[in-house]
Amino acid sequence: MSSTGSSAVQTPKTFQPRIFSGIQPSGGITLGNYLGALKRFVEKQNEGIETVYCMVDMHAITVWQDPEKLRYATREGAAAFIAAGLDPARSILFNQSQVSAHAELGWIFNCVARLGWMNRMTQFKDKAGKNAEAASLGLYAYPALMAADILAYHATMVPVGEDQKQHLELTRDIAIKFNHDYGIDYFPIVEPVIEGAATRVMSLRDGTKKMSKSDPSDQSRINLTDDADAIAAKIRKAKTDAEPLPETLAGLKDRPEARNLINIFAALSDKTPDAVVAEYAGAQFGTFKPALADLAVAKLSPITTEMSRLMKDPAEIDRILGQGADRAEAIARPIVDQVYDITGMIRSRR
Ligand code: TYM
Repeated sequence: MSSTGSSAVQTPKTFQPRIFSGIQPSGGITLGNYLGALKRFVEKQNEGIETVYCMVDMHAITVWQDPEKLRYATREGAAAFIAAGLDPARSILFNQSQVSAHAELGWIFNCVARLGWMNRMTQFKDKAGKNAEAASLGLYAYPALMAADILAYHATMVPVGEDQKQHLELTRDIAIKFNHDYGIDYFPIVEPVIEGAATRVMSLRDGTKKMSKSDPSDQSRINLTDDADAIAAKIRKAKTDAEPLPETLAGLKDRPEARNLINIFAALSDKTPDAVVAEYAGAQFGTFKPALADLAVAKLSPITTEMSRLMKDPAEIDRILGQGADRAEAIARPIVDQVYDITGMIRSRR
């Protein structure tokens, strides 16, 4: 362990509560993103904690993105945030590439994270698939950039879906190693916030697979851009089994598709899965699915309508992202500048 030797460096003892989270503009926003992330991001904003939310465009290009589609998806994701209830005056909403502190700290963290840690990342293995030799170096380094996204804000809490848990553990490991190596209590040890009934929304075609924007089958997911007819049709055709719904949640143990639909119902209606099962005990899917479709349409249609209204004015969305980036920069710049001091980089430009 070594000391930094810099008198400019201060040791923050406590960190003010701050939430950071991000969504990749690598396609449209799904019901999984909405229930596992967006809806909860808005709830956090309304709890009065400082909230910083980011369309992580630099993460998206770890796999090929057509530039026009990337721009479109970034704006559409921002529109989804606002349509879901995010207030850009209260929360900070921006796109990652406009704040260079992310990439700068990402590099430092590439030098903190160990290859052994990165080799354990299951999402890299899933995304790289069988041909890992052809995956980009960025895809491999991605979790270090994600740690930088969070720690550039000294964020203390990160709301995410279940699939990001391992990346947040890595973020904690990076913060601990940085603090240890430089002998300074500089980065907070973040808390993953994985809560609610829908931390892992599953595919509508296969209850053992996560609902994902990259699934080749559009029938596997509900997109926030789907109209009422498409939502109802996808739920009607969702894979289920032949049994009626049980009396208690325990009865759904080996019925992943049924369990998924119960979780979706619970998350959309702000009830617990137990309460939903109790309400529909003994019901057939012929009864439950139309009720779920009505609920989904009632909750999602206003968001879809508002998103398409917002998308008619892309310049306004860009303005909101730019303003958010200015506010984000004001937090992240001094934090990352101090990292340069701590790591021994000379900063003598005026
Ligand atoms: P991404 O873009 O894949 O997903 C965005 C958020 O949606 C959640 N999510 C789900 N939740 C429940 N069920 C699902 N089927 C489902 N699919 C996605 C994700 O858990 C996530 O919370 N690496 C991140 C983006 C990121 C980030 C960050 C997140 C980059 N930097 C810093 C938090 C903090 C990702 O690829 O999310």
